[in-house]
Amino acid sequence: MPPIHAIAAATHPNPYPYYASLRATTPFFFDTELACWVASTAELVGQIMQNPHCQVLAPASASRAAELFSRLIRMNEGEAHAPLKRRLQQGLAELDLSATHLLLLTQRWLKRLPEGPSLNTLCRHLPVLVLADALGFAPQLRLVEWISQLVAYLSAFSSEAERLQASVAAEHLLAHFSGLRPEHCSLLLQEFNQQVVLANLIGLLTQSYEATAGLLGNSLIALAQNPEVYQRILAGIEPISALVESVAVQDPSVQNTRRVVTQAIEIYGQQLAVGDTILLLLASANHDASSSEHFSFGYGRHACPGQALATRLATVILDAYLCGENRPLPVRWAYQASANARIPQFN
Ligand code: HEM
Repeated sequence: MPPIHAIAAATHPNPYPYYASLRATTPFFFDTELACWVASTAELVGQIMQNPHCQVLAPASASRAAELFSRLIRMNEGEAHAPLKRRLQQGLAELDLSATHLLLLTQRWLKRLPEGPSLNTLCRHLPVLVLADALGFAPQLRLVEWISQLVAYLSAFSSEAERLQASVAAEHLLAHFSGLRPEHCSLLLQEFNQQVVLANLIGLLTQSYEATAGLLGNSLIALAQNPEVYQRILAGIEPISALVESVAVQDPSVQNTRRVVTQAIEIYGQQLAVGDTILLLLASANHDASSSEHFSFGYGRHACPGQALATRLATVILDAYLCGENRPLPVRWAYQASANARIPQFN
């Protein structure tokens, strides 16, 4: 059965034939059930992501979690976006994020995982702990819990209780991070409002949490489904980074994103009004044979500053896992409920 709509596609066992049919028949259309426009080709996705009148939007609510998210560069345009993004990128470039250093941190946190390296903890816990450590924050195991609770706020499937819990997690994270102040933040803190900087440092972890868990999980699935690739990797004939990079494009963890129209525009011959929402099918655009571009890490002004880091991190973690003894590959999984992320939950 194909997915019922473009959002259900994100967690469908195989959404790629459905995406192909959208590209071939209705590359840009208004979905009345989802109440948004849907774009599925590389050309449209690239065009819309570069259009200044198609913008990202912060969640509107008075809660602590919404307040934190509203400060992220991910949720802002113009002056609230570009200068801080540049400084965050410089900050990341000044850190030691080499594979050697990440491996050291991975080995450290693998030993400390409470339940040992099950596939689910490997994918969800390890990237956050290693990344926080690499960024210079002495992380503690509770960090993963807070980040996952905070991220749940943005989910279309979260309950009222989960949204309340997200605000409590936001308080914990802000308190924890304001006490820590890693070295490389001092300049950022001088130049920008402290609340904004803190939110964006936490934002690096929230941005990476589900996306990296999905990249790791989908890479493990690709290994399980391609025993000959697995054997070549074990024999050292094929680097694991090649598999991770290929999975990032072919079966991406972020399947779609959204933009809101801020000035009446025409796209693909259709008139869009202010306030219209557009769902951009990044995963579909990746499979568009008419383009060599891929969109797994976004495109244009909001492109992901963590792309190289995320791929390296997933490679190092997989490598460390596969080098261990008795490390099973996934047998059964279902995708976690999500409107945009493709993250396997192994059982
Ligand atoms: C596999 C892992 C990752 C994937 C697939 C991913 C994907 C993405 C995508 C698709 C966007 C653009 C969203 C949009 O334009 O609507 C984005 C933005 C962003 N990502 Fe990542 N990301 C990953 C890991 C990371 C990591 C490790 C970091 C932190 C170091 C990070 C930090 C960010 C930030 C700060 C933005 C917002 C950029 C902006 O608005 O200008 N991401 N990411």
